[in-house]
Amino acid sequence: MKLAIITIFVSLLLVKYCFATSGNLDISSFGGKPNSDISKALSSAWTQACASTTAAKVLIPSGTYQMGALELKGPCKAPIEIQIDGTIKAPANPASNDVASQFLMIGNADSITVSGNGVIDGQGANTWKQNDCHKNADCKGFTMNLSFKFLNNSIVRDLTSKDSKTFHFNVISCNNFTIDGLKISAPDESPNTDGIHIARSSSVKVINTNIATGDDCISMGDGNKNVTIENVVCGPGHGISVGSLGKYKDEESVEGLLVKNCTFKGTLNGVRIKTFPNSQIQISVTDMHFEDLIMDNVENPIIIDQEYCPLVTKCSTQSPSKIKISNISFKNIKGTTKATPEGIILACSSGVPCQGITMADIDLKFNGAVAKAKCTNVKPTITGTAPTCDA
Ligand SMILES: *[C@@H]1O[C@H](CO)[C@@H](O)[C@H](O)[C@H]1NC(C)=O
Ligand SMILES: *[C@@H]1O[C@H](CO)[C@@H](O)[C@H](O)[C@H]1NC(C)=O
Ligand SMILES: *[C@@H]1O[C@H](CO)[C@@H](O)[C@H](O)[C@H]1NC(C)=O
Ligand SMILES: *[C@@H]1O[C@H](CO)[C@@H](O)[C@H](O)[C@H]1NC(C)=O
Ligand SMILES: *[C@@H]1O[C@H](CO)[C@@H](O)[C@H](O)[C@H]1NC(C)=O
Ligand SMILES: *[C@@H]1O[C@H](CO)[C@@H](O)[C@H](O)[C@H]1NC(C)=O
Repeated sequence: MKLAIITIFVSLLLVKYCFATSGNLDISSFGGKPNSDISKALSSAWTQACASTTAAKVLIPSGTYQMGALELKGPCKAPIEIQIDGTIKAPANPASNDVASQFLMIGNADSITVSGNGVIDGQGANTWKQNDCHKNADCKGFTMNLSFKFLNNSIVRDLTSKDSKTFHFNVISCNNFTIDGLKISAPDESPNTDGIHIARSSSVKVINTNIATGDDCISMGDGNKNVTIENVVCGPGHGISVGSLGKYKDEESVEGLLVKNCTFKGTLNGVRIKTFPNSQIQISVTDMHFEDLIMDNVENPIIIDQEYCPLVTKCSTQSPSKIKISNISFKNIKGTTKATPEGIILACSSGVPCQGITMADIDLKFNGAVAKAKCTNVKPTITGTAPTCDA
């Protein structure tokens, strides 16, 4: 009799822990309480969700929490949603996460949704003071990012990410990945706080998102295919950028980008493609379309720069960029530019001139006058109204 009861009890435990099926996995039932470090609780809840054979939800309820660096990895057995309603604070001390390359990494899984009205607070202020990477090539790296790596068919929505120590979101090697309705912010003067960096990924969508940071709004590294950026507001920051490309030997081509219905407010650049001179490889940048954009006081609204060389990099200008840029269109782009009369700069490579560049209905003003276009090694096709190129 006793044995039978024990057997039933043990079986129930087994059902609970080994064959967990579904339901809400609230971190509070794993010891994750407000005002404490939830690293262990979140990690345990994830492990259980990942083992579940039916869809599971990990819940971080409202409240303020601390967390150390954490990796949540698959493969998992069924879809998982992580709902973040609370505020998660990274350690304020820049050194405390040296061992980790990122604050929170979610990766190697299929059908992951990260949602909620919560906040990821990178507490970057102390790090920004120590970050001298804009003037020192051997600078100490501060690698605290929210990273999504090797995720398929996944969505991140609604969250707020603020004051990241470096990049806010890093999307690497993801396929069919949607970012929808995020709010990303860091002060104008914070270094390297890019909003979203995307590399080696395909079918990525960034929509309905507000990004105000000290560096690129969205930057695209090598190997991306089929990226759509729509209904995004950028500024302050450095705008939407493809590249820089051509610095490393193992880079892959970038193809397929649509940037549509976006607004740039007081940014350094609007839309930009940048490649290093004397590039290490011959890859291509093709099929990029920029349309229905509003530029509000932007320094360089439209810029292709194939002689890109940031201050800290020692670039050899011995040979031109080998990266081939083709099939690029700029359509229905309106607003104001500041700094120089050239609202459009198309500085293509003398080695591989740009091909298939079209401009249609560009209406940019500098101090009330029509902004000019400066072009080298490119003969854009112009339709509708758009400035013709000055040499
Ligand atoms: C993601 O999709 C790729 C390509 O189809 C596949 O090779 C990979 O195993 C998938 N990864 C996961 C974690 O499901
Ligand atoms: C892309 O991912 C979404 C969200 O998980 C899913 O609903 C959709 O079916 C996926 N699309 C394809 C083509 O697999
Ligand atoms: C974190 O961001 C930095 C840039 O600030 C980047 O160089 C680095 O590759 C990122 N690390 C990871 C692990 O994604
Ligand atoms: C491009 O990505 C979108 C999702 O952003 C997807 O619906 C579409 O099927 C993809 N196209 C190709 C050719 O992969
Ligand atoms: C364009 O984007 C803005 C957000 O910046 C959004 O409010 C508006 O609805 C979008 N328009 C269309 C036609 O999608
Ligand atoms: C240029 O891009 C458009 C839009 O994506 C695509 O339909 C077209 O095939 C491309 N043209 C060439 C010549 O590659």
